[in-house]
Amino acid sequence: MRATAIAPANIALIKYWGRKDAKLRLPYAPSISMNLSACTTTTTVELSDAYVKDTVEFDGGFTEAEVKRVIRQLDLIRKKAGSSLKAHVTTKNSFPKSAGIASSASGFAALTLAAAKVFGLKLSQRELTKMARLGSGSACRSIPDGFVKWKDTYAYSLYPHGYWDLRDILVIVRHAVKDVSSSAGHDTVQTSPYFAQRLLQLPARITRVERALKEKNFRMLGEAAEEDCLDMHHVMQTQRPALMYWNDATKVIMNSIVGWRASGIPVYFTIDAGPNVHILCEANREKEILKLLGNSYQVIVNKPAEGAHIL
Ligand code: DP6
Repeated sequence: MRATAIAPANIALIKYWGRKDAKLRLPYAPSISMNLSACTTTTTVELSDAYVKDTVEFDGGFTEAEVKRVIRQLDLIRKKAGSSLKAHVTTKNSFPKSAGIASSASGFAALTLAAAKVFGLKLSQRELTKMARLGSGSACRSIPDGFVKWKDTYAYSLYPHGYWDLRDILVIVRHAVKDVSSSAGHDTVQTSPYFAQRLLQLPARITRVERALKEKNFRMLGEAAEEDCLDMHHVMQTQRPALMYWNDATKVIMNSIVGWRASGIPVYFTIDAGPNVHILCEANREKEILKLLGNSYQVIVNKPAEGAHIL
């Protein structure tokens, strides 16, 4: 018995940062994201009564803590299915692990879907997002199609992936595993004196992103997304201990983007819990921006993508 699922990573236009319930991974505020076509995780879950324990195989290697987190997610699904069968999990990413590309999002979305399938659970998409959320908060946004909103316990599609031909040009500036995981960062969010301020500003910014999506107003979308990125990193950098995810290359690219924009190109950046820069633009600007970037960096060009699905 086996099932294979593929799930995209996603880039948050409005970030999830901080949880009011760490165990249930309930966010303080809604977040909005776009699924990424070229950053995917493919996971196979195989069951057999010959297996005496769960095993996890990953081509990039897993730490002990990561294996535990995978098994905890399997336990959850196994319990819901009323099964005692052990599983063998094989997983592979199309992008470097833990470089701030939310590998936990695509990872837990693919794992949840494949495991739910092989254990015979018949879950609605909403229920799947709730389950994926328990593995990793941002994973719930990798289940629905295209442009996705996560509110309270579940996530849903605002618009399908074909709705708006945007690009997320991901510039990889470091491959090494990041120092502080986002999971640990969420836990100290209240140590930033600016977190309360962020929460006050979010409702209006979320409305701007939703309106920009509705009207396909790229400038409005880019401005709000970039603002939210800077706002989240301001909180991160003022947490105790401070979380400094940017490196020199991150800043060079951010400054370039601001310069390109000043010269009239509608282009914006956003950054998650790592140094890599996501360049947001409309499809007709892709070539121009790749040319401006030159060939000093590894880039992954993403389009809006469908959500997790069984292969
Ligand atoms: C900065 O979803 O990785 O990427 O719930 O602990 O797994 P856990 O956290 P995670 O946090 C993602 C944080 C972020 C912003 C975002 O994707 O919204």
